[in-house]
Amino acid sequence: MYVRNILMVISLALSIAIGLVIARGQQAANNAAPVGPAYHPLIGLSLDTLKEARWQSDRDNFRARCEALGAKVIVDEANSDDSRQAEDVQSLLAAGVKVLVIVAHDGNAMSKSVIEAHNQGIPVIAYDRMVMNCPLDLYMSFDNVKVGHQQAQYLVDHLPTQGHGKIVRIYGSPTDNNARMFKQGQDEVLDPLIRSKAIEVVHEDWADDWKPENAKRIMNAAIAKGVQYQAVLASNDGTAGGAIQALKENGLAGKILVTGQDADLDACQRIASGTQSMTIYKPVKALATLAAERAVDMANGGRVASNATVNNGQIDVPSILHEVYSVTKDNMLDTVVKDGFHSYDEIYGDLPAADRPARPQ
Ligand code: BGC
Repeated sequence: MYVRNILMVISLALSIAIGLVIARGQQAANNAAPVGPAYHPLIGLSLDTLKEARWQSDRDNFRARCEALGAKVIVDEANSDDSRQAEDVQSLLAAGVKVLVIVAHDGNAMSKSVIEAHNQGIPVIAYDRMVMNCPLDLYMSFDNVKVGHQQAQYLVDHLPTQGHGKIVRIYGSPTDNNARMFKQGQDEVLDPLIRSKAIEVVHEDWADDWKPENAKRIMNAAIAKGVQYQAVLASNDGTAGGAIQALKENGLAGKILVTGQDADLDACQRIASGTQSMTIYKPVKALATLAAERAVDMANGGRVASNATVNNGQIDVPSILHEVYSVTKDNMLDTVVKDGFHSYDEIYGDLPAADRPARPQ
């Protein structure tokens, strides 16, 4: 019950905190809920991408909770294209959404869209990724600096010579503010060790649009240098997958530590079979459900509530940040499986019976 208990505590803490926080004034003048039993507010969800499996789960859980609360949801997906995402927002506004929820492809580019929504009296929630330099209403995400912290700490602790070694670093998309926060958390752990020369970074680069093929190219460039390294600090499971493919083609998969993030099914299977070392489990169902509740509340004219603030370059944005969990072979059953994120059979089904852990009762 490890994760579930923690989630219950967090969820309770969030509810209390949200209840206690003095809400900001409602941005949306025309956002007051019309009265009447048949009122079904329309909520717009503008996604950057659905490439990584997590976004499908975010979308499905968000929509399910909104609908259970009597709201309707329109979802648009921009396929990692800034102009397309700006157009998506315009069409959602034209459709009459009462609240806009954005997962930005480019956190800077989307600030114009937030201003456009505000000009029409529509409040905006930045979901998972911050939108920079604009008067956002709410930011709902995970503790992204802590994600980077946990990834780097895992590597440092598990290097063949603990705390010492050579590593490759693969960052995420340079247009995603989260990618910078993950790096910030990693830097907090690594910088002192790099300064003391205990750790050496032999190759590093940013994977445009978080694409696995870009991560593979970065890994191949590291391999082509012909230098030794013991670990790859990949910033999410997609980039880990690209790096592991390159390692595999060079006979190195399973011999080099590789980090990740998202607890994607593919990554959990790689952890079970030994080619990936860890991932970070972010309970997206809990966040998406809470985001739906906040969005419907705001659409019904409720006040914006939060339990933290995060600066986006222009304001301290009222924020709700969820806890994250480091997952390895050792605690997979107690985290991802116990929480129902993936089943035992999904993760271990393809492994020879002798390599599977005992099935939980
Ligand atoms: C998210 C990660 C995700 C990545 C690529 C980041 O903003 O926080 O969970 O893996 O985008 O989609």
